[in-house]
Amino acid sequence: MLYRSLLRPLLFRLPPETAHELAIGALSLSLRPTPLRDFARRRLAPTDFGDLRRFGLRFPNPVGLAAGFDKDGRVVSEMCALGFGFVEVGTVTHRPQAGNPRPRLFRLARDRALVNRQGFNNHGAAALAARLARGRPDACVVGVNIGKSRAVELDDAVSDYLSSFALVHPHADYVTVNVSSPNTPGLREMQRADRLSALLDALQDANRELSARAAREPLPLLVKVAPDLAPGELELIVDVTLRASVAGIIATNTTVAREGLSTPPAVVGRAGAGGLSGAPLRERSTRVVAALHALARGRLTIVGVGGIFDADDAWEKICAGAGLVQLYTGFVYRGPTVVRDINEGLAARLAREGLRTLDEAVGCRAAEFAAA
Ligand code: FNR
Repeated sequence: MLYRSLLRPLLFRLPPETAHELAIGALSLSLRPTPLRDFARRRLAPTDFGDLRRFGLRFPNPVGLAAGFDKDGRVVSEMCALGFGFVEVGTVTHRPQAGNPRPRLFRLARDRALVNRQGFNNHGAAALAARLARGRPDACVVGVNIGKSRAVELDDAVSDYLSSFALVHPHADYVTVNVSSPNTPGLREMQRADRLSALLDALQDANRELSARAAREPLPLLVKVAPDLAPGELELIVDVTLRASVAGIIATNTTVAREGLSTPPAVVGRAGAGGLSGAPLRERSTRVVAALHALARGRLTIVGVGGIFDADDAWEKICAGAGLVQLYTGFVYRGPTVVRDINEGLAARLAREGLRTLDEAVGCRAAEFAAA
């Protein structure tokens, strides 16, 4: 409440990226001391989801922070203290890069949406690895999302991803392979079956080797896909990911579509190119979750992301087939209590439906969403 009535109006007066940097700074300052973090955790992460296991990892709850919010892993423990069951840092690239010129992040407040064309501004995989090596939370799962360096040609993408993978491997609980950002020219070409297959096979070879050397199980690999794929493309992606023993698919990244917005077209036009996130993405990504669920038939964990603001939105993704969910834009609009509210709402919903575990809800209405 305090966030929406007091803090958000102040933050929304600032340029979006300035507000974001301020928020990261404030989170880091206020929740850096361990006692304050523990206090926040006790207040904001009380819901118990029992033994929630996905791809061999135990999750305290099913609600994660989506990639892009904390690209350089600056506030992982802090976001964990706000109740996220898992935090996905990145996207990082092998080469540090500045991203696109500013302004590159825009609010469409009337639509509860954002448009961004940040273009993977990040300090590079080595810097992230060093930061995670200095300390990372045990209370939640930490994923690292890797992408292609902009300066690297598409044909050399595999070795670029491999360099990032080797650096972050010791510090990640899982790694997401991002092939779906609309803001790195050509990146989404990596979703094509031949390219994706070559990339995933190479990453899994490295995974086996690095994990054996470290005497641990291979890391779960996930692939993050766009919401703008045709059904045939999704089918090919599921085939390729299953053949490469991938653990799951994150659905979805932002959309290049601009349909159904309430914001005047001139304002949307001023924001320009980039990926749209938030409420207008919700149904589109839910349909992709449902389609993937039908194709994978339980062999992959689907992580549902796109337009989740409350427990009903999260429940929709779970019923469509998501075993876990993530959000970014919902955090910007609803503030630091959003995760607690969603988790409490999900627990209440399970009780109301007479279900004992979340697993019983996963995919319960998938056919309906896939047909919509
Ligand atoms: C993103 N997203 C994103 N995804 C990714 O895989 N790597 C990234 O670096 C980023 N960067 C990024 C920046 C900004 C400003 C936004 C709003 C989003 C996409 C994000 O993780 C998520 O998939 C979509 O935003 C959809 O979820 P929400 O925002 O509707 O909850």
